[in-house]
Formats: sequence, C-alpha cells, structure tokens
Amino acid sequence: MDAPLTTRRLVHFTRISDLAPATLTELLELAETMKEAPAHYENALHGHSIACIFEKPSTRTRVSFAAAAARLGATPIALTPQELQLGRGESIADTARSLSGYVDAIVIRTFAQETVEELARWASVPVVNALSNEHHPCQALADLLTIKEAFGDLAGRRVAFIGDGGDNVAHSLLEAGALAGMDVTIACPREYAPDPRVLHGARAYVEDTGVELQVVHDPAIAVAGAHVVYADVWASMGEESERDVRRRALAPYQVTEELMALAQPGAIFLHCLPAKRGEEVAAEVIDGPQSAVWRQSANRLPTEEALLLLVTRGGRQ
Ligand code: CP
Ligand code: NVA
Repeated sequence: MDAPLTTRRLVHFTRISDLAPATLTELLELAETMKEAPAHYENALHGHSIACIFEKPSTRTRVSFAAAAARLGATPIALTPQELQLGRGESIADTARSLSGYVDAIVIRTFAQETVEELARWASVPVVNALSNEHHPCQALADLLTIKEAFGDLAGRRVAFIGDGGDNVAHSLLEAGALAGMDVTIACPREYAPDPRVLHGARAYVEDTGVELQVVHDPAIAVAGAHVVYADVWASMGEESERDVRRRALAPYQVTEELMALAQPGAIFLHCLPAKRGEEVAAEVIDGPQSAVWRQSANRLPTEEALLLLVTRGGRQ
C-alpha cells in the first residue's frame, strides 16, 4: 500500500489506500451524521451531476449511488459502455476528458483496476471506483461503518475473511484493516491467495504497529477469536467459467454455524452480497441472528453520500 495522501483533500478514490487515516475517520463520522440527520444534507450537491458507468451488473452499488446523489440534490447519470462511444473503442483518456466537461464526479465499475486508474489520470473531476477485479473500496467503507456500529470502535477488532483470498472485497478489507488498525486474517486455498502486492503493501503500512494481516489455509484458525466473519462469492463477476473448479477448491471454506461458533461470542457475519447460500455461506448463518448483512447493505447509502460530498468538495483540478 503506497503512502496515503498527506492532505485531507480526497482527489480520487480508486482504492482504500488512497485515503489518509484522518480522511477515513472524517468520512465515517460524516456518514454517521448523515444517517442521523439526513435532512441537513439535502441539496448539499444541488446542481451537481455524477456520471455512473457500470461495465458489470450491480444492484446495491448502482442504486445506492443513484439514491445518494439524489438525496444530496445531485443528478446521477447512469451509463453502460454500450451507451457510450467507449463501447465502440473510444479511449478511456478521451472519455475522461470529455465527461470532465459536464459532470462533477465519475463513478465507474469495471474489470481491470488499470481502467479506473487511467480514468483518474485523465479526468479533471474526481473518479470513484465502484468495483474493479482487484478492489471494491466503496464496499469496504460500508463494512467499516457496520463494524463500528456493532462494536463502537474499529482499532483492535479482528476480522476473518473466509474464501477466495484474491477477491476484490478481500483486498479492500486488507487495506481497510491496515488503515483502521484492525487485524485481518484471510483463510483461503493456496491457489486463491491475495495479490502479494496488495498484501505486502498493506503489511508495510502497519509495520511496527502490532496490527496483524495474515493469510492462513485453515478457516478454523482464521475465525478463532474473530469479531467479524466475512464471506464473498467463490466466483466473482468475470470468473463464471471457473465456477466448478472454484466450487471444488473452496468447498472447505463455507461459513457454517459450526465455524461461526469458533468466533468471539457476539461476533457478526458480513457478506458484501450477492450471496450464494449453500456455497460460501450456509443459509442458517446469513439468515441467522449473527448476520448483519442487511445493515451492511443499507450502510452503502450513507457512506456513498459522505464519499460524494468529500470528493466533490475538492472541486475541479
Ligand atoms: N456489494 C455490491 O457491490 O453489490 P452489487 O454488485 O449489487 O452492487
Ligand atoms: N467479488 C464479487 C463482489 C460483488 C459485489 C464480484 O466481483 O463479483
């Protein structure tokens, strides 16, 4: 993880490590305030427009960003590549420079992280990553808010992610743990480990702080003493052709009631959704008393409202 920005001004949000710790704190506090007093922020972005490009399906991210923009008085403009010249080969650079003339921020869900970074390189308005193959930073913001609401604080909490360690959500959780001072243990098969660049970057960030970011192969070890147990699908968008192979390799990594029993008493279960009951999580867990997934899903809205406010406040570059 590269050194965070030294300024509190948030320019682009391509991954969690774009944030300074103080900006993360500010963002989560703003989200909490927005939940308590939504009326106070009505029209905070009056007259603003937000381009929302989705190259992959989305229920939560797409709708929560549109709703967040609307609640702030901004106009969201939903776009698919087929509706843009991007779908006919126009470059990211030309798309970024053109859209920057019309809108106040660009939200993009895409495949390669490089696409988000290329857009950010050329755009003169803030770019927000709404999920790439490598990172899902907006999800991590809602995850952090949910953990904070459940336990009152983040530092010192222990998170166990069980499943595909190379998953975008797992990567963003590692970076979020580093920034928030939470221990994160990923339990995954050897062939589905986190990207070493993400893991080493996050570990370098927490060096000498006592925060532990670990990768293990036994889910029981990861979950022992955890405050939060987290799962995501075994085959992410774009990996559908690997579904059977992944299902076999990841079968021992289902979050079951037996596994949850090894966590701290009072531990919560999180899942970014969509979920496949009977694969990465047993129905009894995701639909059971320890599940906080609906609060987590709802927390996408205030965290994205706070994010839109913070990124657009910086204005044009
Ligand atoms: N968690 C999440 O990003 O869900 P969607 O894919 O539905 O947006
Ligand atoms: N890892 C999943 C997350 C979905 C929100 C995917 O990329 O499909």
